[in-house]
Amino acid sequence: MCGIVAYIGSKQCQQLLLEGLKRLEYRGYDSAGMAILDAGRLDLAKAVGKVANLEDKLETIGGLRGTLGLAHTRWATHGGVTEPNAHPHTDDKVGIALVHNGIIENYAALKTYLEEKGHVFKSQTDTEVLAMLIGELYEGDLEKAVQAALREVTGAYAIAVICEKEPDTLVVARKGSPLMLGIGNGEFIVGSDPAAIIAHTAQAVPLDDYNVAKVTRSGFRTTDIHDVPVTPKVMQLELDLEQIELGSFAHFMQKEIFEQPKALRNTLRGRLETREGRVVLGGVARLDKELTKARRVILTGQGTALHAAMIGEYLMEDLAKIPAVAEYASEFRYRNPIVEENTVVVAVSQSGETADTLAALREARERGALSLGVVNVVGSSISRETDAGVYLRVGPEIGVASTKAFAGQLTVLAMLTIYLGRKRFMSADQCADLMRELERVPDKVDRILESDQRIRKVTEGLVDRENWLFLGRGYNYPTALEGALKLKEISYIHAEGMPAAEMKHGPIALINDGMPAVFIANKGRQYDKVMSNIQEVKARGGRIIAVATEGDDQITRLADDVLFIPEITEPLSPMLAVVPLQLMAYHAAVLRGHDVDKPRNLAKSVTVE
Ligand code: AGP
Ligand code: GLU
Repeated sequence: MCGIVAYIGSKQCQQLLLEGLKRLEYRGYDSAGMAILDAGRLDLAKAVGKVANLEDKLETIGGLRGTLGLAHTRWATHGGVTEPNAHPHTDDKVGIALVHNGIIENYAALKTYLEEKGHVFKSQTDTEVLAMLIGELYEGDLEKAVQAALREVTGAYAIAVICEKEPDTLVVARKGSPLMLGIGNGEFIVGSDPAAIIAHTAQAVPLDDYNVAKVTRSGFRTTDIHDVPVTPKVMQLELDLEQIELGSFAHFMQKEIFEQPKALRNTLRGRLETREGRVVLGGVARLDKELTKARRVILTGQGTALHAAMIGEYLMEDLAKIPAVAEYASEFRYRNPIVEENTVVVAVSQSGETADTLAALREARERGALSLGVVNVVGSSISRETDAGVYLRVGPEIGVASTKAFAGQLTVLAMLTIYLGRKRFMSADQCADLMRELERVPDKVDRILESDQRIRKVTEGLVDRENWLFLGRGYNYPTALEGALKLKEISYIHAEGMPAAEMKHGPIALINDGMPAVFIANKGRQYDKVMSNIQEVKARGGRIIAVATEGDDQITRLADDVLFIPEITEPLSPMLAVVPLQLMAYHAAVLRGHDVDKPRNLAKSVTVE
């Protein structure tokens, strides 16, 4: 999902901007461009496709010189993927150049107004309208012109703006789409993601909604769009470059699947006092009293995060005995939901920037809910807007398909369940038992990863099938949804997840000869029921792939392929059952020759509705 890098300082910035764009490539995009101001003249270069195409274009034109510039990777929302629609966009009057992440919702009305004033547009984008509006409102002060323009627009934006008439000014602003200002030594680097900044500085100011920052070579000031000063909050970025490098792996997704044991040890570290049956969640401790009064939990997110939220629902009801429900954030935010007193809303999000999840969080807070974040990216919007939260600590997740973050979300939700359950009906022994099981998960994931080549072999035999079913019950119904999502989003094979019992209510009509049906059939309360569902599919010619518990020989007589996972208590079994599904999806995508880390049409963080 689009990316912004901008620089003001004393260095020639073309290479720095290019490197910044490359660190943002993982977020997904379709075109790229940059503009650099040199001796009062703006030079631009744009290209459709990969950043490498922009690099070629720069080579062809002899490169861009200058020490003030901005660059962008676009994920088209308004206007096709063409060079004229790529950013930066300029005005036709005073030499404005602007890059933008997000959507200007009232662009059409503004475009009509500007056309009536004689402005001629070159693109179909909403972004060009904002550049033209700033040019129209410019009266010698770029910061003021940007503030005035932003007072006129509705929608979501992260922008960086420069002007030929102001060689020492970079103006940046945000509403609903992340942007942070990296503070270097006599220079400033702006990025829509810490990954674009961390190579230059670990000191950064994350902008909040309606913040505007005017940056010069000697310093910066932050205001709101009405020019009211805002105190900047400087934070320490925790990223290190090694974490966002590929190392010996073929893809980031592969690296992140294999990183899960280490990632989960980091998630758990310092948070379990197993002997006392107590979890230590520093981020929520100050809300202890309010959380003790919690009478209902609403968990919300999108995609993989929603699947984790669904498992959180089962955990909280089953173990903590607290009424819980998981909701699509995009539905919750518009459904006029009832939020009673003592309701806790838990926003689950790897990036902490998903527009629907952020909006659902705001809606729940508006209605008086206490809010917790279960988020990976430190300093992200959701982590800053919740009353408290628990960071995943799994390290940056670069692959668009979420894997280690899912494991981290399940681990944090299990700890939150223990935290809440201990205040209600879970005994210290029950909590301690569950914590001991949690502590053993990383080693058990390690064991599953050892069967990677076998899982690849199984996938090889199925990768030509165009329609798969994923079926599970109880805690592993959401795991089935997650397995289906993994497969479809990177191999482009159509896959559908559902409760195993639901198959008889229609989908079983899909079963034809050799159709892959992946059952999560580990030992659990509904094991026998799952066995019956397997029989129903087998009787109709389906090909059975079963995720089963080590030592289960009944399943081997039934399934065509069995992917074993170690024994584990059922509530934590999704953390293990999902690993073979992640590996199957990964191998299917590789075998099909797809771009595993940057699947078509997808973005790592969906910051637009
Ligand atoms: C998961 O593999 C997908 N990339 C996507 O569904 C993702 O989980 C969803 O967009 C939510 O993202 P978030 O966790 O950053 O909020
Ligand atoms: N809405 C703008 C466009 O379509 C920006 C999209 C993005 O966030 O990259 O160009």
